[in-house]
Amino acid sequence: MTDKKPLLVVSTGAGISAESGISTFRDAGGLWEQYPVMDVASADGFARNPALVHRFYNERRAALAGVKPNRAHIILRELEEKFDVAVITQNVDDLHERAGSSNITHLHGELMKVRAIDNPSLIYPLEHYTDTTTPESTIDGHRVRPHIVFFQEAVPMFEPATEIVAKADIFVIIGTSLAVYPAASLLNYVRPGVPVYYIDPHPSAVPKGVKVIARTASAGLEELVKELC
Ligand code: OAD
Repeated sequence: MTDKKPLLVVSTGAGISAESGISTFRDAGGLWEQYPVMDVASADGFARNPALVHRFYNERRAALAGVKPNRAHIILRELEEKFDVAVITQNVDDLHERAGSSNITHLHGELMKVRAIDNPSLIYPLEHYTDTTTPESTIDGHRVRPHIVFFQEAVPMFEPATEIVAKADIFVIIGTSLAVYPAASLLNYVRPGVPVYYIDPHPSAVPKGVKVIARTASAGLEELVKELC
């Protein structure tokens, strides 16, 4: 009989991809300083000007083409040797996948997928980071939109994510300002007594009892590995 590995649940935000060269949203110089968020990432914005929204996500895909997973993504994959690791990410990039993590839940969608506007269950992977879409693009006769959760829309993967968090033996939050709900409330689903860590060089306020590691994702994870392994 094999011993069951402890379940390590990791909730990641834009900060884990910062060391790969992807812009965060709310830091100085972040994406929401350069683009009005309600124009490029909301349901109303998409209804008003779909061409602008397609262009914004085409640019994000092109930016993703030139970057690689960093040490922090790799450490999360390496931790699978000792833990059952479940990654719940707010990120729409594919850097956890490219680092080889095997259990990933995307709360806010995926850049490298589009879906049919008239049938949200039809989700199509894009093959190349250079693939671009416009309001006129069709796949199998369907007009498509980015497979991204826009502001003002429900977060379908939130409930499955809460079920994973409720089973965690250790919960780790990395690189998020905890400004966007419901993602920021995942912490509320952790069972009492479960250790919680928060790695972020500029951490937001968190409840007492959360162990804050005020370092970058890679340095903070190196420190956490020494503590856990
Ligand atoms: P934010 O831009 O709000 O926060 C980024 C966090 O990363 C901040 O707390 C930074 O201090 C931290 N950070 C910066 N560099 C870091 C590094 N090298 N290592 C670790 N942390 C670092 O991004 P999120 O919290 O992920 O949603 O944003 C949440 C959601 O808001 C996004 O998923 C996106 C956005 O609107 C959608 O577009 C649907």
